[in-house]
Amino acid sequence: MGSLLSVSDIKDDVRYILDLASKIKAGEIEDKPLEGKTLAMIFEKSSTRTRISFDVGMYQLGGRAIFLSSNDLQMGRGEPIYDTAKVLSRFVDGIMIRAKKHSDVEELARHSEVPVISGLTDLEHPCQSLADMLTIKEHLGGWEGKKICFVGDGNNVCNSLLLISPLLGMDMSVACPKGYEPDEDILKTAKEYAEENNTEITITDDIGVALENVDVVYTDVWVSMGDEEEAAQREIDFAPFQVNADLMSLANDGAIFMHCLPAIRGQEVTADVIDGDQSVIFDEAENRMHAQKAILYYYLKS
Ligand code: CP
Ligand code: NVA
Repeated sequence: MGSLLSVSDIKDDVRYILDLASKIKAGEIEDKPLEGKTLAMIFEKSSTRTRISFDVGMYQLGGRAIFLSSNDLQMGRGEPIYDTAKVLSRFVDGIMIRAKKHSDVEELARHSEVPVISGLTDLEHPCQSLADMLTIKEHLGGWEGKKICFVGDGNNVCNSLLLISPLLGMDMSVACPKGYEPDEDILKTAKEYAEENNTEITITDDIGVALENVDVVYTDVWVSMGDEEEAAQREIDFAPFQVNADLMSLANDGAIFMHCLPAIRGQEVTADVIDGDQSVIFDEAENRMHAQKAILYYYLKS
């Protein structure tokens, strides 16, 4: 069955998983499909949405989740990832992990005998992007021919959106300062997906160009977990990229505003935008659970 470390891992099944998420949200699946199943959840970084939505999601599907802070695991004292993968595989049916280094999650998945699901690394946030696409479908009626603009840091959230958007027929632009572009390898793959699906990807530091014909304006924090030492410089570099009413006015009428959360009002987004009529942030947060229930069903159901 494999693991979910990148959107690329579900390239051919993205639509299937999102359809499943809509069905699950509508209550159209059997009762307790994951009865008797256990998910281990390892966290090396803080989390509100990911932790709670996976935990509640497993419970609602009839299974259970175990929260494991990496500090409390022997892994936090240096037990090899290899041994951790082998041992957890004897106990649980799946492993969800939020880690600092993407390469550590790749190593865990390589040695695990049960599916590994990434709940964010420094490179990607695939579960978030699935919830985002479910939200876009609900608010805009579909994906085909729509355009999403990510404003700000070409980070993990941006990378996963770059991969998933073309797979669903969406154009994507990224408005970022020079030096904060998305990951090069991800961009190369995303452009291949865009070519296969006749969609466009634009990376630019020109906000006017990026916001042309845009249906979804998306942003994320300027200082991600792990980037704290660069905070002062980032606040200077990203200041012109704040999502405010002026920037929103460049998008299409009826455009929606999205943010993975947590957000800092007055930094990457002004309060009038994130708390305004165009914002769908709490539907988006709720959809983390529906999308992840589909992921859990897809990976853990026998
Ligand atoms: N969006 C998101 O992943 O939120 P948490 O960090 O709270 O899990
Ligand atoms: N880019 C942010 C996302 C948090 C959900 C971070 O990595 O901290």
